Amino acid sequence: MKIREELVLPNGLTLPNRLAKSATSEALAGPDGLPSEALERLYARWGGGGAGLLITGNVVVDPEGRTEPGNVMLMGREALPGLRRWAEAAQRDGAKLFLQINHAGRQVSRRISHRPVAPSAVRLKKGGVLFATPSALTDAEIRELVRRYVFAAELAAEAGFAGVQIHAAHGYLASQFLSPLTNQRDDAWGGDATRRMRFLLEIVRATRAAVGDRLAIAVKLNSADFQRGGFTEEESLDVVEALDREGIDLLEISGGSYERSAMMGSEKKSTQAREAYFLDFADRVRERTRVPLMVTGGFRSAGAMEEALTSGSVDVIGMARPLIVEPDLPARLLAGRSTSALSVTPRVGIGLFDDMLQIVWFQRQLRRMGAGQPPLPDLGRWSSLVVGFARSYAFNPLTMLRRPVGLRLPADVDPVGSAS
Ligand SMILES: Cc1cc2nc3c(=O)[nH]c(=O)nc-3n(C[C@H](O)[C@H](O)[C@H](O)COP(=O)(O)O)c2cc1C
Repeated sequence: MKIREELVLPNGLTLPNRLAKSATSEALAGPDGLPSEALERLYARWGGGGAGLLITGNVVVDPEGRTEPGNVMLMGREALPGLRRWAEAAQRDGAKLFLQINHAGRQVSRRISHRPVAPSAVRLKKGGVLFATPSALTDAEIRELVRRYVFAAELAAEAGFAGVQIHAAHGYLASQFLSPLTNQRDDAWGGDATRRMRFLLEIVRATRAAVGDRLAIAVKLNSADFQRGGFTEEESLDVVEALDREGIDLLEISGGSYERSAMMGSEKKSTQAREAYFLDFADRVRERTRVPLMVTGGFRSAGAMEEALTSGSVDVIGMARPLIVEPDLPARLLAGRSTSALSVTPRVGIGLFDDMLQIVWFQRQLRRMGAGQPPLPDLGRWSSLVVGFARSYAFNPLTMLRRPVGLRLPADVDPVGSAS
């Protein structure tokens, strides 16, 4: 079976098999956004579950760039001991752990930030008053952010992670830079498709310069943002070629944003009829690059996974929701003891709520596992919506008073080259 085969990435890292747990924002950080024991327990569980690659939920480089309360934040070297324990717990049984690095940009609720930043001052269309209008980043702020991504990668290397994944999908900051809907600048960071990809490319280039081949560098990229006037498949393919030139080690394909949750299958008609949503696009990516490819979104059956691998569409099968409900599913698939994931898609029949449930219901399961309890397939839907809404969106006046915590980096050179 192809899913059992090892994969050697360009930097020399060997993944023991072709099954991966894609990123799952856990919201389980300890005080001050440091990695917690709950994360160690959760990842030890996944580490023993058979997947060859585990990618952490998004870890952010700035408190104002949190995607939700409870994100791990990498602000200084004090995160190192917790990161080390996290990496050790996850990799004890042979899985490789990648740290996903992110900044929410404008996709941050007022509960977290009243001063979001983005490439341009364009507010989210969905979510109404829950999201503030972002202010456009200055050139100096953009350079500082690149530096923070690199700092996070350096910490990950020092802590023993096998790789990092730069999150450039799902409408977060790097993805906002790529999309003409959210990047309306006309300077070195926007104005045409080449300048819109610069933020992502500078992060990748500066990270490679800092960590060399010690860390695998992966990127999660949208096939498109599925909005009129937005980031198109053609533009995405051009980004793929540019990433190929930078020499990344793994490319994960996904799609969508808060405004269009294509990553969860909502755009299935317009993508395709195969089990995984982005496989047709992956075939197009294949024509443009030899970088190992991971596709995430919709994979459930061993048959579809084998087919995608043997046809050459992908090299790694990514899954999130199935591995939250069944953390040891990969081991059973690899041993031939299961042929499919349990079919669990929590819904209440109202579009917006169903989108929310795809996160909040699963996050409650992550919280259970973090506390050492098993996932519960019949966990309440409505109660999950109430808990999730209160956690992520309930108004928090403290955010208006609180001064943002500054990053504590040693004085350093600017990793970004002169404007090009
Ligand atoms: C609870 C939850 C949290 C997620 N957090 C992240 C995240 O932090 N970063 C990311 O890139 N994707 C995140 N995703 C998206 C998944 O990585 C994946 O792209 C999506 O769930 C589709 O795959 P699936 O059909 O196998 O679940 C999350 C998904 C879920 C269910």
